[in-house]
Amino acid sequence: MCGIVGYVGPQNALDVVLGGLRRLEYRGYDSAGVAVLADGGQATAKKAGKLANLEKALADSPLPESTIGIGHTRWATHGGPTDRNAHPHVSADGKVAVVHNGIIENFAALRSECEATGIEFASETDTEVAGHLLAAAYEAAPAGPGRLAEAMRAVSSRLEGAFTLVASHADEPDTLVASRRNSPLVVGVGDGEYFLGSDVAAFISHTREARELGQDQVVEIDRHRGLTVTDFAGTVVEPAAYTVDWDAEAAEKGGHEWFMLKEIAEQPQAVADTLLGRLGEDGGLVLDEVRLTDQDLRDIDKVFVVSCGTSFHAGLIAKYAIEHWTRIPVEVEVASEFRYRDPVLDRSTLVVVISQSGETMDTLMALRHAKDQKARVLAICNVNGSTIPRESDAVLYTHAGPEIAVASTKSFLAQIVACYLVGLILAQVRGVKYADEVAAIVAELQKLPEAVAQVLTQMEPVRELGRSLADADTILFLGRHVGFPVALEGALKLKELAYIHAEGFAAGELKHGPIAVIDQGTPVVVIVPSPRGRSLLHGKVVSNIQEVRARGARTIVIAEDGDDDVVPYADHLIRVPRTPTLLAPVVTTVPLQILACEIADTRGFDVDQPRNLAKSVTVE
Ligand code: AGP
Repeated sequence: MCGIVGYVGPQNALDVVLGGLRRLEYRGYDSAGVAVLADGGQATAKKAGKLANLEKALADSPLPESTIGIGHTRWATHGGPTDRNAHPHVSADGKVAVVHNGIIENFAALRSECEATGIEFASETDTEVAGHLLAAAYEAAPAGPGRLAEAMRAVSSRLEGAFTLVASHADEPDTLVASRRNSPLVVGVGDGEYFLGSDVAAFISHTREARELGQDQVVEIDRHRGLTVTDFAGTVVEPAAYTVDWDAEAAEKGGHEWFMLKEIAEQPQAVADTLLGRLGEDGGLVLDEVRLTDQDLRDIDKVFVVSCGTSFHAGLIAKYAIEHWTRIPVEVEVASEFRYRDPVLDRSTLVVVISQSGETMDTLMALRHAKDQKARVLAICNVNGSTIPRESDAVLYTHAGPEIAVASTKSFLAQIVACYLVGLILAQVRGVKYADEVAAIVAELQKLPEAVAQVLTQMEPVRELGRSLADADTILFLGRHVGFPVALEGALKLKELAYIHAEGFAAGELKHGPIAVIDQGTPVVVIVPSPRGRSLLHGKVVSNIQEVRARGARTIVIAEDGDDDVVPYADHLIRVPRTPTLLAPVVTTVPLQILACEIADTRGFDVDQPRNLAKSVTVE
């Protein structure tokens, strides 16, 4: 997820673009860059790191005055956070500058096509290919008004995946063009000036008049000809107009009260983006960076999953999937315990480290211990180029985008999906799953974004329940199978956000002691497995609900659509869409995130910055 700004009008373009990037920096801060049109050419500046690095570079080496320009803050997906990978990217002929948010799934084939014409790429990014293609398409398009928009339509029609592209051309000093598919872009309309932004935060300080762009649409903003929107075929469409009533700070949170709520709402996209680009040219699943051979993966006879906190819960889910799909034994360990327990590791051990930040010291120390023991290390991480993936033998990046709230939400769902992909890649490489079996599971994974979006539309009863539980002094969470890690995650969310004692249990463990704490009215959340998967498990969990209810518990039941067995025993019933047994955590977790957030908000706490916590724990 990156931040994009474009401007054409009477103001100083650099001032407008940099101001917009400041408002969008929460969308990505691996690098920043700008391109303005001046003296018949592109004038660009770009720097790795935060926007302040770019601003310092511009102070040392100013760009020429201009009234048309584009800018970008990057959250790295393809290619590390370096100067050369920073956007804007410029075409080989120096004429086109382009910025991009998203993932161009077919960039490898397009890159080969460009290289075959003699083009030498300056970066490792997928974006650069769009710049070269736009320059060629512009040359091929008929001269005259709309030429750059025609080039953008021609190129956008060839791209697969998710993208927002904004481009300028040295021979078009009055025009910017943009296109979008599965990635956001809004247009701001001022008095004789136009703005492009990943969201309205980019231009809200200049205008509140906005135009919404639909899927597969191209927009042209021209100083003299105004705003034109078409579909990829060139048919003119009328964009929906609206007035933004948020203030600038609210705009950064997408109108949500907390970044956490915004990030919960971004979960469908985070899951979808993590799945994007995973199928190689041969149709097989691929990792992002692999310094392991297929034979290395075939030689694996033991897997450890090592992580902390919420990432540890993702690791527990990974165990079920990897063991079920590959039949390789999997141990899951909290990173702070891992190296002190003297684990049995060797070259045939794969240690999967999971970390949103890529900087958690406990996890990093565990990784280094594993490497000292000659084990192979695979990282699942959300921050491209951070320490943990850099020191790993292979990497699978989640594409959840920056997670500002301390409490992990979208990165957790993305981690779970990444764990499924690791399990499937191992199964595929080791031949224990045929390609069609892997494809069938991938097809189920690709339904998850819509399933999560559906859950999010049904959360008002959960928010109401949260407000009613604000005075609870303890809440228990029960689950079995993959529902057990979800119970642990629900308890952790409540502890770290609402400071309420909460505990997650394997539901079968209740009768071995914990049931003694159940009192009249004790809230007990129960995550119920699908009755369609392992119905024996389902029946046992329904029995567990009856056990706690018989002792006075207030039962809060999360069950899939159509599961009527739970109805008589649920004081509160929260429905989730039907999903395959192993994939259920991606949907059952969401109500627990909303519940914890609502309880914390009702108790008057800072949801985004809970007391005593940090987003990245870089001490042991
Ligand atoms: C969970 O909401 C917390 N943010 C915390 O438990 C976190 O998951 C843990 O500190 C691990 O962080 P990492 O994923 O960045 O390594």
